[in-house]
Amino acid sequence: MKDFIIIGHKAATVPFSLNDLPGAAGRMDILCRCVNAALFLSHDLRRDVRVYLVLKGEPAPPKLICFNGAEVRYLSPDERSAASLIRKALEKNAQDFWTESMPGVSIRKGDFGDLICELNKKIIYLREDGKDIRGKEFGASPDGLLFVLGDHMGLTEDEEKTIEGHGHEIVSVGPLSLHADHCIVLLHNEIDRIEKHI
Ligand SMILES: C[S@@+](CC[C@H](N)C(=O)[O-])C[C@H]1O[C@@H](n2cnc3c(N)ncnc32)[C@H](O)[C@@H]1O
Repeated sequence: MKDFIIIGHKAATVPFSLNDLPGAAGRMDILCRCVNAALFLSHDLRRDVRVYLVLKGEPAPPKLICFNGAEVRYLSPDERSAASLIRKALEKNAQDFWTESMPGVSIRKGDFGDLICELNKKIIYLREDGKDIRGKEFGASPDGLLFVLGDHMGLTEDEEKTIEGHGHEIVSVGPLSLHADHCIVLLHNEIDRIEKHI
């Protein structure tokens, strides 16, 4: 199992217009592209992947949304499709526990720290100045892998402190600062190559 957490610092926490994902929806476009990069293959889905979005924008933060690749339906590889599933989840009255809004998509109240505690795995934090991913062993961890990425704002000091309170390592996918969804594609490719012994 590969889990991805992407933090959306401005991402709307009530239903939003699908016509302004970067603006009024608080850079929801970034999160939607991350969902697609994490889950989609050509004509298939990565069923061993879960994507967690941390929505921290107004007016009702924080909320968590989960896309489970093993169960998700009605998701196609465009931003609007992922956005409409997020919006549908936000129509639910979020509780302190996960509630499914559509097959494979769930929502709950909660912050990044709550999610990290719930998943209870070693964190691989993606950051530009981290250790080069090339040569890293992605051994068969019984719990699977947990990756954390930021949006256009990166991670705050507080979020980094939360990570520091858990087992973690900081990893870079390359020498330049990239979009989070591009990092996810590169990350998948590195792990695919290891898993296929290339
Ligand atoms: C657009 S970048 C964030 C840039 C932001 N201005 C900052 O200063 O942190 C979005 C996220 O992608 C990830 N990222 C970008 N480039 C990376 C790289 N070369 N290696 C690892 N992660 C990277 C990080 O998680 C980052 O928070």
